Amino acid sequence: MYVEGKAKIRKGKAFLNPRAKFLRDVSVAFVACNASRGSRILDATAGTGIRGIRYYLETKSKKVTMLDMNRSAFRSVVDNVLANKVKADVAFTSIQEFTNTTKGNFDFIDVDPFGGIGPYVYDIMKVVRDGTFLMLTSTDGAVLCGAHPSACMKIYGSVPMHNELCQEAGIRIMINFVAGIAAQFNFGVEVLLSIWDAHYLRVFLRLRHGSNAALSSLKKTGYLHYCRKCGFRSWETGFVAKEYKCSECGSGMETAGKLWLGNMYDKEEVKRLLSYLKEKQGSSKELELINDEYDVPFFYSIPVMTKRMRSMSVSPYKVVERLREKGYQATKTQFDPSGVKTNADIGKIKECIT
Ligand SMILES: C[S@@+](CC[C@H](N)C(=O)[O-])C[C@H]1O[C@@H](n2cnc3c(N)ncnc32)[C@H](O)[C@@H]1O
Ligand SMILES: [Zn+2]
Repeated sequence: MYVEGKAKIRKGKAFLNPRAKFLRDVSVAFVACNASRGSRILDATAGTGIRGIRYYLETKSKKVTMLDMNRSAFRSVVDNVLANKVKADVAFTSIQEFTNTTKGNFDFIDVDPFGGIGPYVYDIMKVVRDGTFLMLTSTDGAVLCGAHPSACMKIYGSVPMHNELCQEAGIRIMINFVAGIAAQFNFGVEVLLSIWDAHYLRVFLRLRHGSNAALSSLKKTGYLHYCRKCGFRSWETGFVAKEYKCSECGSGMETAGKLWLGNMYDKEEVKRLLSYLKEKQGSSKELELINDEYDVPFFYSIPVMTKRMRSMSVSPYKVVERLREKGYQATKTQFDPSGVKTNADIGKIKECIT
């Protein structure tokens, strides 16, 4: 028996990773902070049913639907739903089949498949409304982060970056992908929270209906340029990449995109989730870090910079402190323990390193 939150789960032959507890805890907090009794929740890749069961037991919502297309997983969901005395709809079906035949829309949709979200986003858009919250996990980090660039181009339609920025670029490629499909259905996306946790990339979005909403989120997508020679980077929104030369050293730059260049967090939402989690389980170091993170595209890896500059290593905390003393915004980042996010330019950062 595996106990998590208020759920008591028998695994059977279904998939359950205890290491994903943090992301499930945040997801429960997210639903608890945003749902009412009538909110309709779809746990579209239920596995053992742990998420749907926790949403039912730990939030106000009492309208939970759980799907799984694998027979053993479906049996496990049914057993766990009965054992936990949960009144939910459980279906032995695929997301694709379900969304083609179901009527009505959901307020929350959780997709947590094996691998990436690529094959599922188009289908879930058939059962959404203005304001639907999407909670989406990808575990194909190797694809999104550039170990297999052709797979990223094929699945996500984007060129990835394969360097120290690859994880942040990967999650931004994932959001760009959702924004592109949402726009086809006349929806825009608001990004409420993005989390990189080991090999999980999880995003929490809210859909906004209408042509203006769709176009305004597409306007927040574009390209990242990176100079391998000096570490300078720039980004530009738009459908066509224009900049290619490094304005610091004149070298050609590598380009990744399209990717999301808007905010990664809604800090009001993050604060709500933090206080919920603090009340339930003490603290959440991961969310504290996110709450403190300066929400600007891309960080500077201090060890990568000191290596390039051939200078002594320096703690990222020290660099943050020095940048702040000079009046700049500067914080650590969830994407790299040695990374710094700041609004200072690369020249000022170099001054704070030496
Ligand atoms: C990673 S597991 C889910 C884990 C679960 N959400 C948790 O937190 O423990 C992915 C599940 O998605 C199911 N699945 C994969 N593709 C699916 C599809 N197209 N429709 C419905 N379920 C699917 C698999 O059978 C598997 O049980
Ligand atoms: Zn350069």
